[in-house]
Amino acid sequence: MAKLPDGIPVPPDGRVPNPDVSAGFSAYVHIPFCRVRCGYCDFNTYTNLNFGEGASTGDYPESLAREIALSRRVLDTGDNHAAVRTIFFGGGTPTMLRPEQLVGVVADLREAFGVVRGAEITTECNPETVGKAELAALREGGFTRISFGMQSAVPAVLRTLDRLHTPGQVEKVTTWARELGLEYSVDLIYGAPGETMEQWEASVREAISFAPNHISAYGLQVEPGTKMGAQARRGEIQLPDPDIQADKYELADTLFTEAGYRWYEISNWAKPGHECRHNLLYWHNANWWGYGPGAHSHINGERFWNVKHPLAYAQRLALGTTPAQAREVLSPAEQREEDIMLGIRLREGIPVPSGVREETLAELRGDGLIDAEALRTGRVRLTRHGRLLGDVVTRALW
Ligand SMILES: C[S@@+](CC[C@H](N)C(=O)[O-])C[C@H]1O[C@@H](n2cnc3c(N)ncnc32)[C@H](O)[C@@H]1O
Ligand code: SF4
Repeated sequence: MAKLPDGIPVPPDGRVPNPDVSAGFSAYVHIPFCRVRCGYCDFNTYTNLNFGEGASTGDYPESLAREIALSRRVLDTGDNHAAVRTIFFGGGTPTMLRPEQLVGVVADLREAFGVVRGAEITTECNPETVGKAELAALREGGFTRISFGMQSAVPAVLRTLDRLHTPGQVEKVTTWARELGLEYSVDLIYGAPGETMEQWEASVREAISFAPNHISAYGLQVEPGTKMGAQARRGEIQLPDPDIQADKYELADTLFTEAGYRWYEISNWAKPGHECRHNLLYWHNANWWGYGPGAHSHINGERFWNVKHPLAYAQRLALGTTPAQAREVLSPAEQREEDIMLGIRLREGIPVPSGVREETLAELRGDGLIDAEALRTGRVRLTRHGRLLGDVVTRALW
């Protein structure tokens, strides 16, 4: 798993330099449990479902409740009685917990801070982990949106990715979600070892056929510490070819666009008006508190992140101290770089950053990476080709 940055120590009570969130903030809740670890996955998650007190699927919500209470002591919401604007449960597999446990965490947040009326409340969900009753219980408990990990419509590709579900299960869960009036999204991954262009096209078409309002498509990343990373090192699998990945991205973008979806972030497409508000908030670098082991928070320019291990996390909270391992405050220059890096990923792009040379912009435009028309109105906006090389554009603008 990716190492956390070093940073500087956090005071034991979790204090932040500027706690003012009176304009509202978002909550990310990390659930660090999975039935199996997929060979490509680098996220902070575990197949051990019981690490000890406060760190098992049974009592983990108690640890979350303690962190929510701590954040309530730290944050200043002024007279905002509905401070939470969006909530996102991610993992891991949040639906390894029972619906009432997830609903209980939402209730804890509601009690502590108040949740704005019409808030977007999302959970990620592996298709094999829920039935219609579970989805109904989530809906009843205030969830508005489910993000299903579909990944592929092709059984052989699902096997390569170590996924436990069948394509038929995705059809079922999306149908139930629609019947229950839940918003839903599906996640796809392109570039699994051995995946052909035809298989990818079939996955994209099938995802569209489930009629979600939102689709995410990620190019497979093979990280060194994962099972796939080891297989690649031993030469047992081929890393995805960047040119083929680019073709797969363009194919997906074409089919999504034809079906009425609009890209709003490099890896995300939505029917207009159905963009994920929580995600947009991250890319706008707004305030959020990340609850759970390894979760990152950002409050008014300070970032801090929790210890990664679920038991260490639970133990710190049981002792009444912050689970935050370290923090960092970005310098104005770093903040500017980060704003560019995050903002450039969005459809609307960013205003041309001050100090960027005309020649740099001309070069990026000449290479077809940024949009000439947007540039005339003073904005940097990626073209489709540019979306494949977002990092190159970001570095040029830095
Ligand atoms: C970390 S998962 C958590 C959700 C859920 N457990 C699942 O697997 O569907 C969130 C999404 O990240 C994407 N993802 C995770 N690891 C990835 C990787 N190495 N390369 C590309 N996408 C990845 C997958 O599409 C996945 O649906
Ligand atoms: S189910 Fe999701 S979070 Fe769990 S290991 Fe697989 S990709 Fe990672």
